[in-house]
Amino acid sequence: MNEIRRGELQQQTFYELVGGEETFRRLVHRFYQGVAEDPELRAMYPEEDLGPAEERLTLFLMQYWGGPRTYSDNRGHPRLRMRHMPFAVDRAAHDAWLRHMRVAVDSLELPAEQERQLWDYLVYAAASMVNTPG
Ligand code: HEM
Repeated sequence: MNEIRRGELQQQTFYELVGGEETFRRLVHRFYQGVAEDPELRAMYPEEDLGPAEERLTLFLMQYWGGPRTYSDNRGHPRLRMRHMPFAVDRAAHDAWLRHMRVAVDSLELPAEQERQLWDYLVYAAASMVNTPG
């Protein structure tokens, strides 16, 4: 049988599945509200205005999950571990980052399976960004 089944015609990306740009904007906005209220983590961010950092993380996550490639159009290859080298990402920073991200993920109220996929990735990615012992 050569017929193309419906499921194979419509390949939805995770980006589309969770609600597209709006969902990622909400996620990262909520995350940076947490960062803004956390003096220790906030001190790591070099810019006075967190807006541009919020935009970069939003565009990166949109691209990672199959959305528009605006992040790389603007910033080039992500090379995230390298881009974090100027910042001392130790265990405390890792934990704080994930704590604020957890609140942000919860605020989306995604279906359980999508939430798990997103969260598992963030946990894995955060661990890979640690570059400073302690
Ligand atoms: C583990 C704890 C982490 C800490 C403490 C941390 C901290 C930072 C800081 C201080 C910046 C600079 C702000 C800016 O100029 O944009 C930054 C940038 C960024 N971070 Fe993180 N980060 C962490 C984990 C992550 C993870 C897990 C991801 C991805 C899933 C991520 C994605 C990014 C992106 C995309 C940028 C902007 C890179 C650029 O284009 O210059 N970060 N991060």
